[in-house]
Parts: sequence; structure tokens; C-alpha cells
Amino acid sequence: MTKNIKAVYQGSFNDLDSIKISPLSRAFLFSDSIYEVIPFQNNSFICSEEHFERLIYSASQLRIPINIKEIRDEIDHLFKNSNCSNGYIYYQVSRGVDKIRSHIYNSDIQCETFGYLMPLEFVSKPLKVAVCEDIRWGRCDIKTTSLLGNVLQMNTAADQNCDEIIMHHNNIITEGGASNIFFVHENTICTPKLSNKILPGITRAILIDAIKDQRLPFQESDFNINILKDASCIWFTSSTKGVAPVEEVINLDKKLDLENDLMKQCQILYNQRVTN
Ligand code: PDD
Repeated sequence: MTKNIKAVYQGSFNDLDSIKISPLSRAFLFSDSIYEVIPFQNNSFICSEEHFERLIYSASQLRIPINIKEIRDEIDHLFKNSNCSNGYIYYQVSRGVDKIRSHIYNSDIQCETFGYLMPLEFVSKPLKVAVCEDIRWGRCDIKTTSLLGNVLQMNTAADQNCDEIIMHHNNIITEGGASNIFFVHENTICTPKLSNKILPGITRAILIDAIKDQRLPFQESDFNINILKDASCIWFTSSTKGVAPVEEVINLDKKLDLENDLMKQCQILYNQRVTN
């Protein structure tokens, strides 16, 4: 699986298989790290500037000093030296390799960087999902690698043959395990409003921009999980899924309309934005 995957670690380019990391990396010990997944299609990045801006935001929130110019150069190098047209670059920055395991980090620690390019064909298939509680920490607006809440809930759902989850915190819908959520209720496109409970998804922002440009009926708010009982369709957005319709919610016992007109328009609008 990882054979011939091109990667970069601490500025040195190599195959993913040959990279070795220290067990004292704070990414390994504490998930003290941030990341981005930057997609490219037909040989062009999709919204790379927005991904860099979010990385800068995540770094500022964790007070990890990053050199964005070096990071951009490494990502460009990975991209230009691959002969792959569709895929994504995963890029992670940890606080660094510490002298010893300690919650309080060494003040002169240097950050540790790692990235790789993964080929991927973007085909969105209808998803089967489960509703579950959001058990994550209070700063989900930061794109950190601390994803244990997502991992636990997504694997419980995977045991029931689900591909994704819809999480709620105190009955308020937050997001998917690795994506943002949209749904159509009473002929209006709805999505949870931004807060520290959800990731400000780049795909979400691209789609909202297109929805507003087209003046489609749209509401960004707090929504009770029970509203999904009356939703005509649901979909997720993410850099790797694009706009991905939900075909079944296992604990809602309800039929979803995969041909919903507003959802179809959103799929078309998103595809137009990313292919132009
Ligand atoms: N996940 N919410 C969560 C929790 C996510 O992990 C992601 C993306 C999104 C969508 O964000 P964007 O549209 O910027 O990709 C929302 C990535 C793809 C991942 O972890 O692999």
C-alpha cells in the first residue's frame, strides 16, 4: 500500500516506506500536531491557498511556529515531481521531537514536518451512516491529528457496515467523522454554523459560496438532531469525498432522496467550481 508513495520528512524527500521517526516525536506521544489534506484534480490543486490559511490558523492556535514558505515549497516539489493527475497531499506539522516525554514542551523545540502524495480517483458513492454522540474535545475548529473521538465513533459505525457518522453534541448536529454535513429540510439547504465544535471545511466553504451566488434557499444555524427525521436528503463534504450523498441512516429508519433537486444542483455547482 505505501510502496512507491513519495514523501518528505524534515525537508528530505524519500519513499514513505523509508522514513523513520523518533518515538519522542510529540506527534507520536501526544498527538501534538496539525495537518492538512490538499486535493488536486486534473493536475491542479483545489483551493490550496485556503488550506495554507487553515494550516496557519491551526498552528497559531497550538502556538507551533511554522515556516509556511518551506511548507509550500515542499508541497509543490511533491506535486511537480509526481506524474499523478488526481490525488491529495497529506501534510503534518508536529511541535517537534522533544528531549524527554513531558506534557510541558521544551521552549526551544523545532517543529517536525512530514508529508506525502497519495493518488486518488475522486468518485463519490452514496454513503451508509450512523448517528452518534460527538465525544470529541472542545476545539474541533483546529485541524489537529488528535482524532481519537472520530476514530472510536467511526469504527463503531464501521462494525455496522457504515461508511461515515453524523455526530451531535447535546442533540445539536455537529459534523461527520471526517467531513461536514448538509441536508435539505422544507426545501432549504441547511448546514451547522461554524463554531469551535466543527472544522471549518474548505469544501463546505466552496459549496456555500456557490449556493449563495446562485441564491439557493440556505440556512446556517444550530440544528437539533431530530430535524433529520424530516430531511429529504443528506450529504457530506470533504476534500477527498467532494459532495457525497447519504443513502441510508441506520438509526433513523428513513428513506433519503438521492435524486433531490437541491442536492443535485449542489453536486453540479461544486464540480463546476473545482474543475474551472
Ligand atoms: N477530513 N470535518 C472533519 C472532522 C474532517 O476531518 C474533515 C476533512 C472535514 C472537511 O474538511 P475539508 O472540506 O477541508 O476537507 C470536516 C480530511 C479529508 C481527513 O482528515 O482526511
